[in-house]
Amino acid sequence: MAGNRTFTIIKPNAVGNRNIGDICAMIEKAGFRIVAMKMTYLSRNDAEKFYHVHRGKFFFRNLYLFMTSGPIVVMVLEKENAVEDYRTLIGKTNPELAEEGTIRKLYAQSKTRNAVHASDSDENAAWEASFFFNDKEIMDADYCLPLPEDEIDSD
Ligand code: CMP
Repeated sequence: MAGNRTFTIIKPNAVGNRNIGDICAMIEKAGFRIVAMKMTYLSRNDAEKFYHVHRGKFFFRNLYLFMTSGPIVVMVLEKENAVEDYRTLIGKTNPELAEEGTIRKLYAQSKTRNAVHASDSDENAAWEASFFFNDKEIMDADYCLPLPEDEIDSD
């Protein structure tokens, strides 16, 4: 593995607002490799499981209602220091407090409709990635190394 992995969700508001491409461009320009990616949705049961650490908090109901309201894009990202660097790239949970130029500053509408999710530790990143992807669906970041010249241009 080239670096560490983190896990992210592009949430229903950002998918609905057609921000998938811009958010992925920001992620790649910041030096992350997307090593797994799919569009899917969360059932209420899945949302409650995925966010089990927030069960009982005042925002839990809003969180699962929103997260089940439309399609999401889930990704595994690879880079040195991935967890911390990705949290810097997305900015604070509350978009009003997020730094200029961060993903949430640009694409979030509120603390609930905050455009993206990010793992908060290497351990949680591994668990969250395995919630959506099996091992074969997560690529080796070296997948895009060029083939030898004679295997590419044979014509
Ligand atoms: P996320 O990174 O997906 O992880 C948990 C989510 O809970 C978080 O983004 C927010 O959408 C939501 N959340 C966390 N704190 C609050 C809060 N104080 N008010 C409303 N929603 C919150």
